[in-house]
Amino acid sequence: MFNALVVDKDEDGKTHAGVRQLELEDLPGAEVTVAVEYSTVNYKDGLCIGPGGGLVRHYPHVPGIDFAGTVEDSSDARYRPGDKVVLTGWRVGEAHWGGYAQKARVRADWLVPLPEGLDTRQAMAVGTAGLTSMLSVMALEDHGLAPGHGPVLVTGAAGGVGSVAVALLASLGHEVAAVTGRPEQGPYLRDLGASRIVAREELTEVTRKPLESEMWAGCIDAVAGAMLGRVLKQVKYGGSVAAVGLAGGAAIEGALITPFILRGVNLLGIDSVMQPFANRLRAWERIARDLPLDKLEAMVQPATLSDLPQLGADILKGQVKGRVVVDVNA
Ligand SMILES: NC(=O)c1ccc[n+]([C@@H]2O[C@H](COP(=O)([O-])OP(=O)(O)OC[C@H]3O[C@@H](n4cnc5c(N)ncnc54)[C@H](OP(=O)(O)O)[C@@H]3O)[C@@H](O)[C@H]2O)c1
Repeated sequence: MFNALVVDKDEDGKTHAGVRQLELEDLPGAEVTVAVEYSTVNYKDGLCIGPGGGLVRHYPHVPGIDFAGTVEDSSDARYRPGDKVVLTGWRVGEAHWGGYAQKARVRADWLVPLPEGLDTRQAMAVGTAGLTSMLSVMALEDHGLAPGHGPVLVTGAAGGVGSVAVALLASLGHEVAAVTGRPEQGPYLRDLGASRIVAREELTEVTRKPLESEMWAGCIDAVAGAMLGRVLKQVKYGGSVAAVGLAGGAAIEGALITPFILRGVNLLGIDSVMQPFANRLRAWERIARDLPLDKLEAMVQPATLSDLPQLGADILKGQVKGRVVVDVNA
């Protein structure tokens, strides 16, 4: 028997989440059984713990879109008992049972061996959010961003993607400007390496101007909505924006073609879910090398399985700071 956070749906279509005991036979069939050590809380987890958001197909469901742990049993030659592994994406925790349990059974293709220099707790302090930040940094670098080009803007900065992005960019030598709607998080963002705090309100007004003054060498955007529409008009000639999330809305409000055709600005789409294995491995290895672990620790808020229903509701309201690390065995 092992503990899991199980979400069920009642006859009225309402979901209920609670910690329950399951048996190994309850797990879905796949090649690798993992003794989960840590998981975390992402926006999608908030949806899957609560209303579902169209992501969960079948109930009862075990959410948790990412986890790290130790292989217990494997019928795939790539993994052996005792191997440390990390999993993000592939619709685990949505269409497949996920990491909010002491055991998970998943396909070998979905796993990544934990890189040298990171333990399972640190891997989940990074989690899907941090992996996505690293993928964004890599995309910006591939499109020419280098330290010294000017300030790099991070939106939704006090959230999970934003916090890791600020710490990564600063440790790589970039000047970082952090956009937040929570002014009280200014000192936290400065500790992570931001040299400037930008109030959210400065970027939420939709304007019809074709372009604004060139300010940012690049941007990692977790917000979209009106903010992305404004930021695109402020990016320096030839600069790029990595579009990661939609915390502020799914549209790009007020966006015009002008930044693309008059300044050669690039809008780079970042997806962590279906990212090919080789790029995942490269991103995890870069995280182990480039993310300062003391900064990572400063982002962490510890939690247990029974804290998850509340944390799921909090992240949907944009009220979670930094990274939650869920010890599934606590
Ligand atoms: N592309 C991918 O593969 C991928 C992977 C992971 C996450 N995501 C997406 O990226 C986004 C961020 O994820 P996360 O885990 O970092 O979530 P999070 O921890 O909730 O952070 C989102 C942050 O956005 C800001 N925000 C929230 N509501 C806002 C609003 N209405 N207007 C402007 N800013 C707002 C807040 O930051 P401040 O309080 O600092 O303003 C909040 O902390 C989500 O949309 C998520 O779905 C995408």
